[in-house]
Amino acid sequence: MVRSDMERRNDDSMPGYLCVDEFIKDMVAARALTTAFELKLIDFLAFGPPATFDDLKKSVLSTHSGLKLLLKLLVDSGVLETDSDRYLLTPGFSAALEYRDLLLTKLEFSHIAAHDFIDSFSFLTADPLEFMKRAGMFRLFNYGNALENTPENRKQTARWMRITTMLTRYEAPACLSLHNFAQHVRMLDIGGNSGEFALQACRANPELQATVFDLPVVCDIGHDHLRTEPESARIHFVTGNARADDLPAGFDLITFKSMLHDWPDEVVRTLLYKACNALEPGGKLLIFERGPFETGEAGLSYSNIPILLFAHTLRSPDLYIECLEENDFHQIRVQWIDLEMPFFIVTGVKKTDAVLQC
Ligand SMILES: C[S@@+](CC[C@H](N)C(=O)[O-])C[C@H]1O[C@@H](n2cnc3c(N)ncnc32)[C@H](O)[C@@H]1O
Repeated sequence: MVRSDMERRNDDSMPGYLCVDEFIKDMVAARALTTAFELKLIDFLAFGPPATFDDLKKSVLSTHSGLKLLLKLLVDSGVLETDSDRYLLTPGFSAALEYRDLLLTKLEFSHIAAHDFIDSFSFLTADPLEFMKRAGMFRLFNYGNALENTPENRKQTARWMRITTMLTRYEAPACLSLHNFAQHVRMLDIGGNSGEFALQACRANPELQATVFDLPVVCDIGHDHLRTEPESARIHFVTGNARADDLPAGFDLITFKSMLHDWPDEVVRTLLYKACNALEPGGKLLIFERGPFETGEAGLSYSNIPILLFAHTLRSPDLYIECLEENDFHQIRVQWIDLEMPFFIVTGVKKTDAVLQC
């Protein structure tokens, strides 16, 4: 059950970062906020005292009427308030600005998705495969660009990796709090991207070693992403194609975070069969995914449009449970997590005498 933004804000158990969605609720508010960042109006007010219209006019590159309109939109959406004739950030927006990196990423992601929503929602509704051919979002997430290390491929791949890395930075703690990673010593994160999930797992668990398995350009950028982190000595990248290549062996935990939804059922079966095979007997397999798309009582917010575009790829845990059962796993468990949408964690233990089915 999806809860409204208001219910989430009033729930102390919800992660604080979800407050950013309050400022990406509708397209006009979100676009005005992006403009306020681009014109440095947010920084001017965040780092300085409350400012009059004339103060802002001197510092923000804008026409008189443009600035007037922008300020009105920002007041309407709760980003700014006025005190006498001075503008200042509201307490709610100041709190959201603590998560500036996430806020900017979600704004960018929503604007990219909005173009596809406007241009091709009929295709998304009637013919998802045709939609995927047309949508800029799926050109952006083109894994074909991650196979060969050229400057252009690196630029394209880095663009979508910034988005996945940022979402994972904020989503990972929920998984780390529900699954005890301290019980593991060697973790393999398949489709582990920039290594952000492995980084957080290693940061919280000083004994853990991690291997990130991903496509070549992704691993290369991931290597740079972790370079300055103290945990980087415990995180290794292995390049390969999880569908076609052998997976490295010798792990007591194999994870798939937001990776399996990209693939049709038969590919998921192959990926899970290979992972189950690579796992040490007695080891755990963990799948952390978004659940099926729901709009909730408050309706669809602008910040959810990116997820809407992937809605037809999001499944219930059933297929993953079935695959683990087929591969002779036991202690299979599903835990649901309520973030901006429902997520789930499926875990299972490989029997010490497991006989895997081809
Ligand atoms: C949706 S992203 C999720 C990334 C990361 N796990 C996260 O949650 O942030 C899917 C990941 O799978 C990787 N991937 C796609 N096809 C792959 C393949 N054939 N072999 C290995 N990794 C692959 C992509 O490069 C990408 O990093």
